[in-house]
Amino acid sequence: MKTFLLTAAALLLSLTVSAQTLTSPDGNLEMVFGLSETGVPHYSLTCKGKSVINESRLGYTFKPAYVFDEGFELIDTEFNESDTVWQPVLGENKDIRDHHKELFVALRQKSTGWLLNLRFRLFDDGLGFRYEFPVQDELRHVIVKEESTEFRLTGDHKAFWLPADFDTNEFPTTTSKLSEVDSLTSEVRKEVLAAHAPAPCLAVQTPLMLKSEDGLYINIHEAALVNYPAMHLALDDRNFVLSALLAPNRNGDKVFFQTGYTSPWRTIVVSDDARDILASNLILNLNEPCKIEDTSWIKPVKYVGVWWEYFVGGGSTWSYTDNQDIIIGQTDYTKLKPHGRHGANTRHVKDYIDFAAEHGFDAVLVEGWNEGWEDNFAYHKEVMYSFTKAYPDFDVEELQRYAASKGVFLIMHHETTSSVAEYERHMHEAFQFMNRYGYPAVKTGYVGRIIPRSEYHDGQWMVNHYNRVARTAADYHIMVNSHEAVRPTGYSRTYPNWIAQESARGTEFESFKGNRPDHCTILPFTRLMGGPMDYTPGIFEGDLSVYGSNKAKLSSTLVKQLALYVTMYSPLQMAADLKENYEKYPDAFQFIKDVACDWDQSWILEAEPGDYITIARKAKGQDEWFAGAITDENARTATLDLSFLPAGKKFTATIYADGKDASWNENPKSYRICTKKVTSKTVLKLPLAPGGGAAVSIK
Ligand code: NOJ
Ligand code: CA
Repeated sequence: MKTFLLTAAALLLSLTVSAQTLTSPDGNLEMVFGLSETGVPHYSLTCKGKSVINESRLGYTFKPAYVFDEGFELIDTEFNESDTVWQPVLGENKDIRDHHKELFVALRQKSTGWLLNLRFRLFDDGLGFRYEFPVQDELRHVIVKEESTEFRLTGDHKAFWLPADFDTNEFPTTTSKLSEVDSLTSEVRKEVLAAHAPAPCLAVQTPLMLKSEDGLYINIHEAALVNYPAMHLALDDRNFVLSALLAPNRNGDKVFFQTGYTSPWRTIVVSDDARDILASNLILNLNEPCKIEDTSWIKPVKYVGVWWEYFVGGGSTWSYTDNQDIIIGQTDYTKLKPHGRHGANTRHVKDYIDFAAEHGFDAVLVEGWNEGWEDNFAYHKEVMYSFTKAYPDFDVEELQRYAASKGVFLIMHHETTSSVAEYERHMHEAFQFMNRYGYPAVKTGYVGRIIPRSEYHDGQWMVNHYNRVARTAADYHIMVNSHEAVRPTGYSRTYPNWIAQESARGTEFESFKGNRPDHCTILPFTRLMGGPMDYTPGIFEGDLSVYGSNKAKLSSTLVKQLALYVTMYSPLQMAADLKENYEKYPDAFQFIKDVACDWDQSWILEAEPGDYITIARKAKGQDEWFAGAITDENARTATLDLSFLPAGKKFTATIYADGKDASWNENPKSYRICTKKVTSKTVLKLPLAPGGGAAVSIK
């Protein structure tokens, strides 16, 4: 079916009637909307005269068999311009400018009389557009078979891609030409996809980062994913056409809606300078303003946790006993024999609270505190874990008192193992429990298949679930950090208590040998386009064989781990390593203690996806600046131009650099630290080891 649409579109789009042109505020981008002779809506985009997207089809097909992407007539157009500045609660910049020109198009399908509106917003850094379905008597309830949106590219671009998969985004990124995606996608994956998607089954995920041969950086994603499934992109690798491939529900349907409805925005961020992609606020600008009235309780959080020890193979675990015959709500754990390796015990958690308090951290995450972890590895539980009953050796009341007395709070953990319907049933008691014991933040988890109906993690049903959790948590003044959820689309502007997400390979994959040295030079161009990531950096002991069974080695030098606090923006940052490892390197640890995670302003100084990134930021409300530079497997020199500093003043910079003999695979822990007087005229040259980085703090 998809193939038919693509060929048909190619034939139809040449003869355009009623073309409307929209130009970006700075005049560099131009978007043209038109209807073909047969009434197919289409758009195209250029940047400084170069084509970014050739004429591409817009519209839908509905169930059972309604073609809603042709036979339209134009009934109205409206041009608008808007230039405003708004303040995110937490962010990379205190002020965000939203300057765009808008084209609103009202269409009517001649054969059915059904109405479809399109809204395009063109910014200096890209295009967003969405579908709007006005309330109408003849079209009330819709089941979408597929969205017809295309992105017709101009050539065989270099792509930074993940294979499509409606359940997970935890893949290593592949860098290749679009024409090579087929040979680099496993047959198994294609089969899985073919079973749930219309042919062709070759597809990738968004955010998709592309680089054209004529030097354009193009990022395709979406904004404001609400009551709609995530968009993946089917790839026609001969004509370089991407088309929307929505994550289905279990029956293969894509979206259910009632008219009086809008789709998420489809976004194309574009520039001839890679730094502009990282500096873009287009996705945030397309989301609705904050809906939480009092946001005073939403704060940046730097935390440590009873967590990494579960991954390094040192013996400690989430579970309390070896007994697997547990029935949640019925089993009396006090009658079971503990296996003695339970990580979340009161004594150990107190040690972490002490450590957090001593070193100025806000919080301690504790996983494995609650009943039900005995079959963790199988993740086959149909009944979820308890979210209100602690293991016998985890004293909730005492720990709450102790943490509060030290000025630290505990982060709650809700691993749902994807028993989502059950979680929704228990969510209010769980949040009330958190309120009672002073937990202001929760880490949620969605490991495994969605229960009860095996819905996809990226489908409409689950998107509604994640959004509902964020909104409900807001009512309880709870911040949310979701793991294994659909990748973000800027919705944290609207619900800033959704403080971070995982939704990509984080540090945990280092313990499975799953990340490459270029991983974090790509993530800001892909995963982070939609919002902050709980990447959990800060691993100082990169050789996991020291713990015994685990032989993995980190893909990064120690100093690169420091730089990630700046290059991977998140208002929620973990110092993920064991406290013992920080105690061994107190001078390097100082950077993690000092670094901010909420900012007045950010400067993207150097960037090339897959190769290197250098970013500097000013801490919110403070005269302190932090910079991070990272590289892939190649050594290089980063240039840190300090002209962002106020002129005419002297500052002290502390420079954390890779040692001369450092490298990610041979000598990751070699580093040197020095201080230097600097001014706005200083330009620092920072040597980066293979897989290395540099971090700088300036006061
Ligand atoms: C996967 C999460 O990413 C990880 O952080 C967590 O520890 C485990 N699931 C257990 O919930
Ligand atoms: Ca590279």
